[in-house]
Amino acid sequence: QSPVTNTQSTFTPAIEIDNPASVKRQLAQLFDISLRATVPDETDVVPLVDACTVKGGVKFGDYQCNNAMGIWSKIKGKQTGFRGPPAIGQAIANNLPASEMIDSCSVAGPGFVNVVLSKKWIAQSVQRMLVDGIDAWAPQLPVKRVLVDFSSPNIAKEMHVGHLRSTIIGDTLARMFEFSHVECVIRRNHVGDWGTQFGMLIAYLFENFPNPEDVSVAAIGDLQAFYKASKVRFDSDPEFKLRAQQAVVQLQSGETAYRKAWKQICDVSRAEFDKVYQRLGVQLEEMGESFYNPYIPGVLDKLGNLGLIEESDGARVIFVEGVNIPLIAVKRDGGYNYSTTDLASLWYRLNEEKLEWIVYVTDIGQQQHFDMLFKAFRRAGWLPRDENAFPKCTHIGFGLVLGEDGKRFRSRSSEVVRLVDLLDEAKRRCKTSILERDAAKDWSEEEIEKTSEAIGYGAVKYADLKINRLTNYTFNFDQMLNDKGNTAVYLLYAHARICSIIRKSGRDIEEIRRNGKIVLDHEEERALGLHLLQFPEVFEEACTNLLPNVLCEYLYNLAEIFTKKFYANCQVVGSPEETSRLLLCEATATVMRQCFYLLGIEPVYKI
Ligand code: ARG
Repeated sequence: QSPVTNTQSTFTPAIEIDNPASVKRQLAQLFDISLRATVPDETDVVPLVDACTVKGGVKFGDYQCNNAMGIWSKIKGKQTGFRGPPAIGQAIANNLPASEMIDSCSVAGPGFVNVVLSKKWIAQSVQRMLVDGIDAWAPQLPVKRVLVDFSSPNIAKEMHVGHLRSTIIGDTLARMFEFSHVECVIRRNHVGDWGTQFGMLIAYLFENFPNPEDVSVAAIGDLQAFYKASKVRFDSDPEFKLRAQQAVVQLQSGETAYRKAWKQICDVSRAEFDKVYQRLGVQLEEMGESFYNPYIPGVLDKLGNLGLIEESDGARVIFVEGVNIPLIAVKRDGGYNYSTTDLASLWYRLNEEKLEWIVYVTDIGQQQHFDMLFKAFRRAGWLPRDENAFPKCTHIGFGLVLGEDGKRFRSRSSEVVRLVDLLDEAKRRCKTSILERDAAKDWSEEEIEKTSEAIGYGAVKYADLKINRLTNYTFNFDQMLNDKGNTAVYLLYAHARICSIIRKSGRDIEEIRRNGKIVLDHEEERALGLHLLQFPEVFEEACTNLLPNVLCEYLYNLAEIFTKKFYANCQVVGSPEETSRLLLCEATATVMRQCFYLLGIEPVYKI
């Protein structure tokens, strides 16, 4: 593994990723050799390599090595013969081993070593990806078993936009892990299917359906209305309240009729959630809070034996380092809560499921909860002291979804927005604009449906994923469905246009893949080739910090470079360079599709 350090700010502890296809890492290996030769005594110097950015309209190279200044401040006083950073930079350049990757190397300013890559090498590398498949550009994460805990809505309550964020982000992270050759990626739906609200719901169910045979998904209907109505009963009728409280006890002691009623309520909820998952194409494996109930006493005993549990205000709590409030393990009334279940479920995940990395995706409001949970496990010796060591836990937080008014996104009646309605609306709008297009005149009904779904749902996902997850964002249909901005609509159309260029050429792309050759003589061809080649290092960055927006930015730039630079300047079909340029089109479409796949967006081939 090459010793590249990540210069980007990290939100989660960096993970060591083996990423041989990364240009940055390949260059870092060459610079490592050079640095060993340049300053043999400075053994702890690691190569700092980055892609060059445009400064004052000029780019000095494709990549740069930024070690000279740092080395100078380390060796200044010592007898090394160097007179300053530019001389060190020059020596680094001179000591760089010859490589087919590099065309030229120069030193600029205070010692930046700039590298211009060989266009032949860029062309060959892109071509190799077309032959070997894009999987050859995937990194290798140092873990075999990862669990992503995401979506996780609460039974009997509506799934809200916060759950939508968790679902979209969590699904993308799972896809990123899968692409990174993680052997086992578990997508876990930790649904809130336990707790005192079930007493109320069951009592209400019994009241309305004295005959359990009558209960069905259709009969309960709108579970949110059901929840509200039962809450009204609960708050106004002391006699009902008593029955509800007794129902909790009966349920927890496993009484058959109560278990059955509980299951019926869960089933109704699940059917609702599944509609959303099905629309979004998200797979989840449900293992709700109730599953861990039998494990709670054992885990609490173990924590107690380790001396972690204290009495506070009648509750049993765990104090952790650096947080002044404790994690409540058992409530004053002896009942269990959200934290209790998370203690038991994390124990289960580590000991029974033998997971190496557990990633929790929830809003940032739950950050402290998870911080305390992980710290409690560290105190118990159940997680390593070193946060970077495996097994490890990471909380992936995200900001709020806001409405146009800048407040939490709600529908007009100030209820939470129903996700199904939201997705339906996105689809409806896309369908309308597709039907307005001339090209769609001879599309089949099915094609129109499929395309509206791909674009509509894709737009909702992309609008969420393109923002750094830690920030809030405003939900706006007009913006996310605009076909000109940084939206899924624009990207899907760009992809479809590339596919149509290839189709219109009438050439057999598989044959060209095997026998054609990429040549990057035109400046814009080279720029496109280089950007394609940067996919592995960008993906690595997205993975290191678990930030899907990094991938979105790359994808958008790719579409822009293709459309505005390459395609605007380089004729493809009918030009002498047709074969090479078709291969560039194919490579662009391939990388775009991989990005779409990672973002959970269905590609469109025709517009
Ligand atoms: N059900 C919770 C909520 O709606 C999210 C659960 C997240 N996962 C966990 N293991 N705590 O806020």
